[in-house]
Amino acid sequence: MTHAHITTWVIALILFFVTLSLQKTNSPKAKMMHMVLRLFYVLIIITGAILLYMLASIPPLYIVKVLVGLWVIGAMEMVVVRTRKGTRTQPAWIQLVIAFILVLYLGLKLPLGFHLF
Ligand code: HEM
Repeated sequence: MTHAHITTWVIALILFFVTLSLQKTNSPKAKMMHMVLRLFYVLIIITGAILLYMLASIPPLYIVKVLVGLWVIGAMEMVVVRTRKGTRTQPAWIQLVIAFILVLYLGLKLPLGFHLF
């Protein structure tokens, strides 16, 4: 299941950059790609929830991991919406980078799946 979780967020990351590049060229496909990206947000949450369900108890660091995971999704959504509206994206990008580094660290530190840290 950790593989399914990793697959969903890697695909979401790719779709995120594809959506941004389609938006920059004003492509009509950008809206559709954004909808597919949103579907992947849901899949990330579902696979993450299944991982949580597999645990006998949920230590506090898992709660932090879930919140930071949701923060990554929120920041991605902010970047996409702000790019579409043409408003300032820098604060959203900064949040995205910080939250992404944190979530990778927490995910790889926690006991399921791979542990790099
Ligand atoms: C884009 C957002 C997210 C990213 C980049 C991300 C990244 C990761 C990574 C790298 C791992 C480690 C996998 C492994 O060790 O094999 C992981 C594990 C996990 N993730 Fe996420 N995640 C995200 C969102 C979420 C969300 C929203 C939830 C909860 C609903 C969640 C729950 C979990 C759980 C429970 C684990 C298992 C932790 C462990 O290794 O013991 N994740 N995630």
